[in-house]
Amino acid sequence: MTQLTQLQLQHFRNCTQAQCELAPGLNLFVGDNAAGKTSLIEALWLLATGRSFRTSQNQHLIQHDQPQCTVFAAIASSHQSTQKHRLGLQKSAAQTLLRVDGETVQSQAQMAAFLPLQLLTPESHRLLEEGPKARRQFMDWGCFYQTPEFIQLWRQQRKILKQRNHALKKRLPKAQIQLWDPQLVDTSLRIDEIRQAYLQELTPYLVTFCQALMPEIQEEVACQYRSGWPKNTPDLLALMEQNFARDMQVGHTQYGAHRADIRFKFGNQEAIHTLSRGQQKLFVCALLLAQASLHEKITREPVIMLIDDLPAELDETHRLKLLGLLQMLNIQHLVTSTSESLIPILNSDTSRLWRIEHGHVALYPLK
Ligand SMILES: Nc1ncnc2c1ncn2[C@@H]1O[C@H](COP(=O)(O)OP(=O)(O)OP(=O)(O)O)[C@@H](O)[C@H]1O
Ligand SMILES: [Mg+2]
Repeated sequence: MTQLTQLQLQHFRNCTQAQCELAPGLNLFVGDNAAGKTSLIEALWLLATGRSFRTSQNQHLIQHDQPQCTVFAAIASSHQSTQKHRLGLQKSAAQTLLRVDGETVQSQAQMAAFLPLQLLTPESHRLLEEGPKARRQFMDWGCFYQTPEFIQLWRQQRKILKQRNHALKKRLPKAQIQLWDPQLVDTSLRIDEIRQAYLQELTPYLVTFCQALMPEIQEEVACQYRSGWPKNTPDLLALMEQNFARDMQVGHTQYGAHRADIRFKFGNQEAIHTLSRGQQKLFVCALLLAQASLHEKITREPVIMLIDDLPAELDETHRLKLLGLLQMLNIQHLVTSTSESLIPILNSDTSRLWRIEHGHVALYPLK
C-alpha cells in the first residue's frame, strides 16, 4: 500500500496550512534554515509511528496559540492504483485521534501497517553509537512487518516486564514476583526466534548495500545478534531463578528479550570502532536499504524513505549513489535540503521540487 499521493498539514509547528500532491519518486523540499523542512518530515513520521523524533511533548508539535494540529496523508497501492486509503492524525495537548478512511482506529500499529516509513536524519548514525534501544527498534521494525504475530508478542512482553519490574521495586514476596517468569521466558524465546530469523534474512542484503555504498571496505559485514541473556543458556527459566537475588538488588529484570542487541562487525572489527563518521552514516543507509529491499520481497510493497537534510548526511558522490539506489529500488523518497543544487534530479518524470518558506509549501518547476 505504499505510495504517498497527498500530504496535508495544519497548525503543525510553524506550518499553518500546507498541501502537496506528491510524485512517486523523489520529492525534494528545499528551504532556508527554520523554513519548516524537518517539521514536514516529522509530521509524516508522527502519523505513521505516533512519535516525533525530536520531542516527546505534544505541545511542541502544535503551532503556538493553536489548540490542535492535524496531519493527513492519502496513500495508494503501488500495484493496484484502485486501492486508496486516507490516514489522519489529530493531536491536542490532551489526546490523539487516529483515523483510517474516516473511521477512528485505536492502535498506532494499524497506521504503521499502512505506512511503512524509514527515516534518515543527521542523527541517524546514533544507531551505532547509542545504547541497544535504537538497534532493537531497528530490528523490531522489520519483525513487525515480516511476522504478523510479532506486535502481539512484543506488547505482551512489555506488559509482563512492567509488572515484574514493578513487583521487584515494591519488594513483593519472591513467589509472587516469579509468577511472571514462565510468561516472560515464553514471550522472550518467541521474540528471540523471530528476531534471529529476520536478521539472518537481512544480512545478505546488508552485505550487498555495504559493498555498493562503501566498496573501499574489503571485509564483509556480519550481524552478531545478542538475545538478551548469555549465549548457550540451556534453560532461561532456571537462569532467571538463579539470578533472582540480583534482580531484587537492582530492582529490574536483567534477562529477557528487552535486553537484546546487535553488534555489527567488519572482519574482527566492530563497526562503531572502525568506521569514520561519514562511513557510519553510509552504514545506516545500507541498513535502511537492506530493510527496504527485504520488506519489498516479503510484502510486495515498497517502503517510503524520509531523508532530512541529505547534504548534511553525505558527500556528493555518496548522495548520487544513494539517490541512484532509491530510484533503482523504486522507493518513493521525501528529501530535504537547504539548497536545490546539492541534490541531483535523476528522473524528472518521477520527481517534484517543493519550496518551503515560513511553513508554506509551494510546488516549483524542475529546471
Ligand atoms: N510549536 C511551534 N509553533 C510555531 N513554530 C514552531 C513550533 N515549533 C517549532 N517552530 C518553528 O518552526 C520553524 C521550523 O523548524 P524546522 O526545524 O522544521 O526548520 P528546518 O527547515 O528544518 O530548519 P534547518 O534547516 O535549520 O534544519 C522554526 O523556526 C521553529 O522555531
Ligand atoms: Mg531541519
